[in-house]
Amino acid sequence: MKASANATVIGLQWGDEGKGKVVDALAGVSRYVVRFCGGANAGHTVTVDGQRFALHLIPCGILHQGVCNVVANGVAFDPATALQEIDALRARGVCVAADNLRISAAAHVVMPWHKLQDSLSEQRLGEGKIGTTARGIGPCYADKANRSTAIRVSDLICPDALTEKIHHIADIKSKTFAALFGADPLDPEAIVTEFAEYGRQLAPMICDTGHLLRRACLGGERILFEGGQGSMLDIDHGTYPFVTSSAVTACGVSQGAGVPPGAAGIVIGLIKAYTSRVGAGPFPTEQKDEIGNRIRERGREYGTTTGRPRRCGWLDAFAVRYAAELSGVDELAMSLLDVLTGFDEVRICTAYHIAGRQVDAFDVASMGAVECTYETLPGWKPDIAGARRFKDLPDEAQKYVQRVEELIGRPVGIISVGADRQQTIIHNTHLRGLA
Ligand code: IMP
Repeated sequence: MKASANATVIGLQWGDEGKGKVVDALAGVSRYVVRFCGGANAGHTVTVDGQRFALHLIPCGILHQGVCNVVANGVAFDPATALQEIDALRARGVCVAADNLRISAAAHVVMPWHKLQDSLSEQRLGEGKIGTTARGIGPCYADKANRSTAIRVSDLICPDALTEKIHHIADIKSKTFAALFGADPLDPEAIVTEFAEYGRQLAPMICDTGHLLRRACLGGERILFEGGQGSMLDIDHGTYPFVTSSAVTACGVSQGAGVPPGAAGIVIGLIKAYTSRVGAGPFPTEQKDEIGNRIRERGREYGTTTGRPRRCGWLDAFAVRYAAELSGVDELAMSLLDVLTGFDEVRICTAYHIAGRQVDAFDVASMGAVECTYETLPGWKPDIAGARRFKDLPDEAQKYVQRVEELIGRPVGIISVGADRQQTIIHNTHLRGLA
């Protein structure tokens, strides 16, 4: 076990691995819960006492008292969505204030032109589209890299600078969108009014979150880093160009939160017991048949953010092993094991082939051309939703988990067999004192 008390929870597939539930389980013993990547494209679902909370931007620690939640500098921050989420939480009795929610002044703001550009450019790509969530994420990060057309959260609380920037950028965007897409011009005055109001409402929560978190590290306060999306969607290491636009592996924690590399602590890699993907791009274990349909229906595999049906298939241990190596994953957490109940047999992809030759090293560039080698294991029929200990699982389900541990070379610490907090099996974990 690493010396640090911190932990990082990331997805090892294409997102939607059930990170919300594991973050929720660990948040109660953490002082800080930090989002370091992505934006309102993420959708983390937590079910507490039968009440379902779907969070997009606000860290899942908001559902625990005494936890300070941080939206760090690496996030593409959408103030409209954040405020809607804050209002919805307050309406359900959850306290959200400056002592439990902090927003980085250095995070970049998703502006109306980013969402417009996201939709218009996807329409133009037609069949070749990425299948984005249309939340303006890619265009926001593109402007961050471009610098002169970006707006940071710090600008929201400086009305004069905000006005000047919005007029300057809206002019460029209007001209570009008119030329490229024949779009109507933007209304900068309306945007200034809207975003200045967001700044006014959010001002008490805006600060230098990097400083806050580095002090917490020095003081030995426990930080939990909550990943968004999944490793296969990482801008550098995922199935490019069918990826999101930020660094979503554990490698992104340091940059996205302004903390030293070692601060990530214990890295927990989330996997589903199978695989799902939304949007376009390669997916070697996809099952476009009854098996995929059955997984989709049983797993309720429809996007939290967009409602789109997800593509579904068997677990890809070869891809997950790559993602686990990349992030230095210490242990796995497996969600939705209950969804595989009822199959006569279950399959795991153990290797890739191209033109009959086994692929040695995982290579995202060739993923579209690979064929999978599967290992078939016996399935199980009894309902496992009530299992609370590993030994409560049928032998076949235990063997499935153990085979995944062997293939990926990491223990499975937490197993989830249903949406509720209680439907969790603590198994081979480093985190016994934490979870
Ligand atoms: P974007 O992040 O909206 O630009 O979308 C880029 C790709 O990442 C698309 O295939 C999306 O479906 C996918 N994506 C983005 N966020 C998530 C997520 O939280 N879960 C699953 N897929 C996601």
